[in-house]
Amino acid sequence: MYNTGQSFAAERFDSAYEEIKHWVTMMQQHFQPAGVHWCSGSDEEYNNLCQMLVDKGTFIKLNEQKRPNSFACFSDPSDVARVEDRTYICSRRKEDAGPTNNWMDPREMKLILENITRGAMKGRTMYVIPFCMGPVGSPFSRYGVEITDSEYVVINMKMMTRIGTTVLDYLQPGEWVKCIHTVGDPMEAGVPDKKWPCNPKEKYITHFPEERLIISYGSGYGGNALLGKKCFALRIASVMGREEGWLAEHMLILGAEAPDGMKTYVAAAFPSACGKTNFAMMIPPEGMDGWKITTVGDDIAWIHKGKDGKLYAINPEAGYFGVAPGTNAKTNPNAMASVARDCVFTNVAITPDGDVWWEGMTKEVPEGLTDWHGNPFDKSSGKPAAHPNARFTAPAANNPCLDDRWEDPAGVPISGFIFGGRRASVIPLVYQSFNWNFGVYLASTMGSEMTAAAFGEIGKVRRDPFAMLPFIGYHMADYWNHWLQFGRDLPEPPRIFSVNWFQKDKDGNFAWPGFGENLRILKWIVNRVKGLSLGVETPIGWMPRYGDIDWSGIDFSEEQWDNVMDVDRELWKKELLGHQELFGSLYDKLPKEFVYMRELLLSGLWRSPEHRMQAERV
Ligand code: OXD
Ligand code: MN
Repeated sequence: MYNTGQSFAAERFDSAYEEIKHWVTMMQQHFQPAGVHWCSGSDEEYNNLCQMLVDKGTFIKLNEQKRPNSFACFSDPSDVARVEDRTYICSRRKEDAGPTNNWMDPREMKLILENITRGAMKGRTMYVIPFCMGPVGSPFSRYGVEITDSEYVVINMKMMTRIGTTVLDYLQPGEWVKCIHTVGDPMEAGVPDKKWPCNPKEKYITHFPEERLIISYGSGYGGNALLGKKCFALRIASVMGREEGWLAEHMLILGAEAPDGMKTYVAAAFPSACGKTNFAMMIPPEGMDGWKITTVGDDIAWIHKGKDGKLYAINPEAGYFGVAPGTNAKTNPNAMASVARDCVFTNVAITPDGDVWWEGMTKEVPEGLTDWHGNPFDKSSGKPAAHPNARFTAPAANNPCLDDRWEDPAGVPISGFIFGGRRASVIPLVYQSFNWNFGVYLASTMGSEMTAAAFGEIGKVRRDPFAMLPFIGYHMADYWNHWLQFGRDLPEPPRIFSVNWFQKDKDGNFAWPGFGENLRILKWIVNRVKGLSLGVETPIGWMPRYGDIDWSGIDFSEEQWDNVMDVDRELWKKELLGHQELFGSLYDKLPKEFVYMRELLLSGLWRSPEHRMQAERV
């Protein structure tokens, strides 16, 4: 049933529409839904589906005065986040998935899935969503069709991608990604539906890269179910990009407009929950009023080489699926404006007057909240009212600082890449790599300290190369090689930078104020890219000095600066041991350059004992 080999269609169907119809009939026979609905993508369809979920009790219509045309819902407590341990790359050969991915033989996985998904949509409607990732008609866009038995998914896909009838004309036979999703919770006759149907016992998020096929079972939440996002736009697209010579990256894209009106676009990768949306929508701090940040995308970038040798990026998405807790009028006013209307909120708390609330939105916790379980919130419980991974889904069009080229089919020119993790120490606030290869090395070895026990010991560094660890669709070291190769062909590769907004001082407080103040660092980066700002060479790369940063409007002392820019040689030597550990786990395909680059970094950090003693004396 799932053996829809990639080439079957191209040979047998004159149009993608015929091909999709054939596939949908096969899926219908297998899933046995009560009916099939082809999504037109119209606003009327969207409104009807929202109303259907209100009638069912899944959606709570929010106060029309406070949050027009918006809804909130609570998921099943077992279904609150992406499930990395249930996510599989089922390439034909295990070595193509690599050791950082869960792998299963595609035939074996399909057997499991065929059994558990047979009849899985009983009693439900099977929705067929043709969708486009990227501006419709752009040569960089790619197409897919998602079938799903979840109205929530259709509603979110309408905001996060471009869906519906208009997209159908652009699909080519054999050239679209098959996305199959079921909540895995068939309805029994006479038994009312649950508010959040899912399968609390079993979940599978599976990818078959060679077939351009995704099958997701058991979850209705975010990246598990909105298959255009992480599954297609990163895991499958990264495989496409490798084969076709482009990059699919877990990166925001922003435009930084200087007071003289010149705009520089950069792409930046940060692991999940490191403030990507905040950075992409940053408001200039006091003293830097002439600057303006505009958003092209907040999560994913598809990057192609232009004929002029420059890199051009599109945002394949059309909306934001952002983490709500911590977002407020100070940390991200543009995100707050983006969620002012036409949104869906998942697992936030509800105020008595029908608005939303989450931890960090206001200092005061409002009285009379309903928590994300749908129960009256007990402030003394010590538990949060909103789930820490509560989300808003907002159309990009709501964003007041949306870049005017965000839907440019040709993409925007990328002049620099920024990589950053969450590290309390070791990694300085900012540095620039010596060159493309060193930049690829720094991105490959980046890491974050774990903040949730789900991923291991809290505080331990989890290496998250390019912030792609959960999202790469093939062998991680093949991906590094792809990046190295990509740079070899560029006449003038973009500059590559590392940032770390999360250093702590000795009292455990953040040593850098972050948020809008990050623009001071971005300004140095932008000027570096243009060849305008100075830096000094250090063992790990180029760094600004105190005087190279614009400090207008802020009181940040040279001593504080020295602390956040410190390169502690002993700690860095330990850091390099961590790189070695990572390389050991990927040794079969490790780029040979990395071995030498690690040695070069080490030799730059080493100091003779006499020098060390001298340094200690002063
Ligand atoms: C996201 C993530 O939801 O990275 O964007 O987890
Ligand atoms: Mn993300």
